[in-house]
Amino acid sequence: MGHGPSIDELHFAETPSVTKVPGPNSESLLARQEAVDSSAVAYPKRIPIGIDEAKGATIKDVDGNVFLDFFGGIGVLNVGHANPYVMDAVHEQMDKVVHTIDFPTEPRIELIEKLREIAPGDLKGASNVVFGGPSGSDAIEGSIKLAKHNTGRHGMLAFEGAYHGATAGALSLTAGKKYKEGYAPMLPDVVHVPYPYPARDPQLQGDIGGFCPAEDCCQNTGCATALDAVQRKFEDPYSGHESPAGIWVEPIQGEGGVVVPPKGFMKGLRDIADDNDALLIADEIQTGLGRTGEWFGSDHFGVTPDAVTMAKALGGTGLPIGAMLYHEKFDTWGPGGHIGTFRGNVPAMVGGIKAIEYIENHNLLAHADSVGRYLRDRFREIAAETDRIIEVRGEGLFIGVEFVDAAGAPDKEIIKTIQKTSYKNGVLVWSAGRNGNVLRLIPPLVITETQAEVGADIICDAITTALD
Ligand SMILES: Cc1ncc(COP(=O)(O)O)c(C=O)c1O
Repeated sequence: MGHGPSIDELHFAETPSVTKVPGPNSESLLARQEAVDSSAVAYPKRIPIGIDEAKGATIKDVDGNVFLDFFGGIGVLNVGHANPYVMDAVHEQMDKVVHTIDFPTEPRIELIEKLREIAPGDLKGASNVVFGGPSGSDAIEGSIKLAKHNTGRHGMLAFEGAYHGATAGALSLTAGKKYKEGYAPMLPDVVHVPYPYPARDPQLQGDIGGFCPAEDCCQNTGCATALDAVQRKFEDPYSGHESPAGIWVEPIQGEGGVVVPPKGFMKGLRDIADDNDALLIADEIQTGLGRTGEWFGSDHFGVTPDAVTMAKALGGTGLPIGAMLYHEKFDTWGPGGHIGTFRGNVPAMVGGIKAIEYIENHNLLAHADSVGRYLRDRFREIAAETDRIIEVRGEGLFIGVEFVDAAGAPDKEIIKTIQKTSYKNGVLVWSAGRNGNVLRLIPPLVITETQAEVGADIICDAITTALD
């Protein structure tokens, strides 16, 4: 089948190309949506377009406007929209068999084998994969069961700023109050402790290492205090909870604002989990499958988690599939330990295999790393000229730019302004952050250098105009 088209061939040629937005066809579709769709609909409120077609890192609306896509379905479209290398195989599979529950199929086993091959650290070749329902939230539900089943404990530890999904168990681990209000109670004995936040953590003085359980403390104050809080939840006899069954962590927080913790954080968590017979679960639903320039976010920290949750980009082309890969020593549950009718979506599995192959064949991990560096440098040039940007951060094509107002408070409004101007000029961007004040850029990994340059020009113009 060859390696598929080069990344230059994946997109609409005329990018970006925008006349009036929203155009008349979008307006009409949006009005029809407003009339019948749920009031839970959120994205078109900020980006008012109806979508007609999408290719690579480009999206065409129903009026023929073509946009550069800098959010890639929030981390779903790592190999781009409608990548033919993936789509051809998916179409072929569609005509053969779609739904197989958990009977073995060639693609199911091949995808598991591939995931075992690219898994972080010692999980390579020594792991099992469970599929359940087709979402990230469901993969998290599976990880909750795995931790409880293997430890006999039921408490859970997660972090402030975390997003782990919207189903009951996952929502309990999610930190955002806005998602929880009105839906309490959540699962019992879930605690949230601070996540290191280098741009915002107060700088402590004195013996920082004294707070930190890691032998090789990296001397970062936020990291040390976060690890201290985690350790106390396990080891302080009056911490208020039974010892958690597991620690759920995003190696880089996504929804929380693309927050990159110091190098020692994951290692410190690994040590605490080991000392307390708890599972370390890396939620790689947003960071996984090449997003950060490595296969998994955990790879940046040289730490082997006990389990890794995946979804989003796993289906390759946007077909839904969730999975959890975990060390084989935790494969202690029996038939039906984690289930779901849609645990055998073969076209999505084919999509996953082909997407991994495409990333390998086109060196997209290195490409994500270099284009990500280029983009961060562009935003750092602006940051150097203003105190309204407190940090430009990220790894690979997972990028956050955090804004404050003139008084130093989180500035959500400026993100909306930047988003609107970028949209009018043909680039779609999204936000993140505890206060909505982080510009989050997660373009498909197949974005070309030229597209990155053009997109950066438009976003940088939008930033400088908004700052004026
Ligand atoms: C880190 C992380 N975990 C879990 C989820 C939940 O995934 P889903 O929306 O597919 O349920 C998300 C979704 O944004 C996420 O970013």
